[in-house]
Amino acid sequence: MRIAAGRTALITGGGSGFGRLVAHRLHAAGASVAVVDADAGRAREVAAELGERALGLGADVRAAREVADAVRAAEAAFGGVDTLVVSAGVFHLGALEETTEEDWDRTVGVNLKGAFLAVRAAAPSLRASGRGRIVTIGSDCGRRGFPHQVPYVASKFGLVGLTEAVAAELAPDGVTANCVAPVGCPTTGMGREVLEMKTATSGRTAGEILRAAAAGNPLGRNASEDDVADAVLFFLSDQAAFLTGTTLDVDGGAHLGAVPGVR
Ligand SMILES: NC(=O)c1ccc[n+]([C@@H]2O[C@H](COP(=O)([O-])OP(=O)(O)OC[C@H]3O[C@@H](n4cnc5c(N)ncnc54)[C@H](O)[C@@H]3O)[C@@H](O)[C@H]2O)c1
Repeated sequence: MRIAAGRTALITGGGSGFGRLVAHRLHAAGASVAVVDADAGRAREVAAELGERALGLGADVRAAREVADAVRAAEAAFGGVDTLVVSAGVFHLGALEETTEEDWDRTVGVNLKGAFLAVRAAAPSLRASGRGRIVTIGSDCGRRGFPHQVPYVASKFGLVGLTEAVAAELAPDGVTANCVAPVGCPTTGMGREVLEMKTATSGRTAGEILRAAAAGNPLGRNASEDDVADAVLFFLSDQAAFLTGTTLDVDGGAHLGAVPGVR
């Protein structure tokens, strides 16, 4: 995969998990990278890991002013932003009747409104670059409904729609927008948090839950952080120049049908 020289990237949720790995991979490919995270300390730590050509910025993606300030800071440091990765996200697990308005607002606010605010703030720079790329991190929960995850599923379905609408609107200026939709990856911050929630609510061990999750796709394992970063880097590469408005399932085939009794 060839990443164009001198990319100038901003990654929301870059302080941890998929966002952090993408920050490292892009930076190693020569990009300048602004790591944006609600946890300003982690954003700065990741920027320090990267060294030169890196910025660590604290911003809550639900706050328009904070997002705009982060984009302006990246533009000032790098002379523009031609690459946006939307990885900031939060999870919520709970039965429908026990899901509060606050649960909904937080989950949809970070995962969907946060994506809108980041894309809107970066759009002028992405358009002006003539080679803008946006990648959003969706989820298998944005492809199918799952129980006890109503706000999360709704936010991730919304993210697919947002990505398609943005792809259509920015295409005339040569900007592409695509979504990567992984199944569960137990090693990120969210992956660990989800596993803890599931062990607490089900009484099953982490190993039992991970084995059951792996059995949920034909390739029989959970997603790795590299699986996801590889897909993101592909969409940012020269080879993906003609792809826009697509969602790539990084799911070991979990979206495929299964026939009971037939392997
Ligand atoms: N890990 C999984 O199993 C999995 C599966 C499918 C999709 N995803 C998605 O991948 C994305 C990245 O998650 P991850 O698994 O790397 O988890 P993670 O917790 O390691 O990373 C998420 C980052 O988002 C940041 N964040 C949270 N709220 C924020 C806010 N309001 N403003 C700015 N930053 C905020 C967190 O501080 C954290 O650094 C999320 O959108 C998540 O929904 C994760």
